[in-house]
Amino acid sequence: MTDVTSLYDETADAYHATIDPDGAGLTDPTFDDLVGELHGQRVAAIACGQGRDARHLADLGASVVAVDASEGLLTHARRLEQEQPRGIEYLHGDAQRLDVLDDGSYDGAVCYMALMDIPELEPTLRSVARVLKPGGWFVAAIVHPCTKPPAHGELIDHTAGTARRVTGRYFEEGPYDSATRWAILPNVSYHRTLSTYVNTLVASGLVVERMAEPIGESPVWREAAQLLYVRCRRIDS
Ligand SMILES: C[S@@+](CC[C@H](N)C(=O)[O-])C[C@H]1O[C@@H](n2cnc3c(N)ncnc32)[C@H](O)[C@@H]1O
Repeated sequence: MTDVTSLYDETADAYHATIDPDGAGLTDPTFDDLVGELHGQRVAAIACGQGRDARHLADLGASVVAVDASEGLLTHARRLEQEQPRGIEYLHGDAQRLDVLDDGSYDGAVCYMALMDIPELEPTLRSVARVLKPGGWFVAAIVHPCTKPPAHGELIDHTAGTARRVTGRYFEEGPYDSATRWAILPNVSYHRTLSTYVNTLVASGLVVERMAEPIGESPVWREAAQLLYVRCRRIDS
């Protein structure tokens, strides 16, 4: 049993009621494209929350072990697993240590929309690399650090009728008060620059293979990238 806790325990029921309450699993074509063919693969879903990414990976044919720090969210994940078994094992654990997972034992790992909620990036990515088999893959999705740094907002260009993104405090890495975020999310997030993300991945032995920045639906996210995805491979030097 790990001693880690998650701010998501405070919003777990609201998060679950909003994010995949019926347990159908994640729907995200960009994620599907990056994880690729999964049949027969052993995959770790890191910071899985109430399990929407884990369920989708299992539906794609993977054998899934999922880890999160929030007992509140894991309770929902385990109940959904009981109601509709997919063979997913849910573990309470700290993504920064991943001591609940064995070394070199996963073909792939995902961390979906969570790295910006985890305080320490470097031990997290080192732990991801450690649990992957040599040559294993890692896919992460995050809010885009360039368009959602600690200070951000939107401007409407009334002449052109378009929305513009304004940003600031990009170089202030670390925790910031994100109280204006969606109410189902905690008030603290951790910002890192794009170069910190890429350099920390590479320093952890996770070499970037592909990145993706899908075009969103709303006017502003048709003009600025809301999300950033990366696919890496564990390379042993
Ligand atoms: C935005 S939620 C995403 C959850 C899930 N991947 C999804 O897409 O619904 C962020 C998750 O990160 C988890 N988390 C934050 N810090 C963590 C840590 N140190 N170890 C494990 N999980 C952590 C939270 O408990 C929460 O479930």
